[in-house]
Amino acid sequence: MAKTALITGLTGQDGSYLAERLLELGYEVHGLVRRGSTITTHRVDHLLERVAIHYGDLSDGPSLRRIIETTRPTEVYNLAAQSHVGISFESPLQTCDSGALGTLRLLEAIRDVQDRTGQQIRFYQASSSEMYGKVVETPQSEATPFYPRSPYAVGKVFSYWMTVNYREAYGIHASNGILFNHESPRRGENFVTRKITRAVARIKLGLQTEVRLGNIDAKRDWGYAGDYVEAMHLMLQQPEADDYVVATGKTYAVRDFLEYAFGHVGLDYNDFVVIDPRFFRPTEVDLLLGDSSKARRKLNWQPKVDCQQLAIMMVEADLELAHREKTLLNAGKGFERYRAAA
Ligand code: NAP
Ligand code: GDD
Repeated sequence: MAKTALITGLTGQDGSYLAERLLELGYEVHGLVRRGSTITTHRVDHLLERVAIHYGDLSDGPSLRRIIETTRPTEVYNLAAQSHVGISFESPLQTCDSGALGTLRLLEAIRDVQDRTGQQIRFYQASSSEMYGKVVETPQSEATPFYPRSPYAVGKVFSYWMTVNYREAYGIHASNGILFNHESPRRGENFVTRKITRAVARIKLGLQTEVRLGNIDAKRDWGYAGDYVEAMHLMLQQPEADDYVVATGKTYAVRDFLEYAFGHVGLDYNDFVVIDPRFFRPTEVDLLLGDSSKARRKLNWQPKVDCQQLAIMMVEADLELAHREKTLLNAGKGFERYRAAA
């Protein structure tokens, strides 16, 4: 019998890769999508004939309950959140409404449907290495205490413990994936890796002259999103729910990423980076480095793409995008010249 998955955050980076993965595996896939003033499905447009879209929002408990009631998923992946750490300082309540209370609303909807129908619903929570924050040990594993340093991270700690509590209190198969940073050509453009690779491509093609960044000495354990969604799925296939760190086990400074990305097109990042205090955070996370030996041992999972390969993959994709941008710009200029001459 085909398994049925509900993904919240379908339109995000991870939602799009996870939907592809689950469709490949033969799942019936449903996605929670919130209505915006513009269409936000560009990352999953190629899947729309095969994925069922349900309008709703993590702030709207009744909509979550109704969607679970009607779709009867065997697995729920909770990926939706305001996921930008810097912006969480500007918008802490909205961040915690999705990243903290939203998880609780979803867990309550699952508990209710499971209680009334007897149907088992497995649950994945998108927990984050940001929860380690001001790290108390390195590398960070499932046993490392949390020390969150932003409203985003505090909200994620709440969701982490709610997931553990619903597992222990109600016997729900609920797991936390504590994922370290993962990127891809589909990464949002205001996260540092994508901001850099977009800039590299646009600078190379003469569409931009500089890139303004904050703390480029911060260190992160960067992996590829396509690899990480495999770990999410594997967690829900285990007989017992549990919590797992997912990471590459290598850490790099933003400076290293700059070197890989600019170096790939033969440029020196020092000539183009401007440090702008606007992008500093009130409290920073200086270093993240994950120990994912539990996931490797129990899930038989391992990452396939390293940081330099990731930077190159993202620059190549952004070069294609910048070429298209330039063609459109030139077409526009040609039209203006034609109008001026006519
Ligand atoms: P993303 O690209 O920012 O996607 C976030 C998704 O959440 C989008 O689909 C967004 O919808 C949706 N969303 C936001 N608020 C919502 C709300 N109130 N109701 C319903 N949907 C809402 O994030 P991502 O990189 O894919 O990350 C997926 C999850 O993993 C997030 O929870 C993130 O915090 C967590 N995480 C990410 C990383 C990482 O490195 N990427 C690491 C650890 C944990 P719109 O398209 O409408 O904005
Ligand atoms: N976004 C951004 N923009 N970050 C910058 C910039 C800039 O201009 N300049 C320097 N940085 C630094 C940030 O201060 C941070 O130390 C590092 O680059 C990475 O920032 P992000 O790419 O925004 O990611 P993040 O580590 O804060 O958060 C991401 O990873 C978490 C997992 O550890 C997000 O995907 C979170 O949702 C996720 O939980």
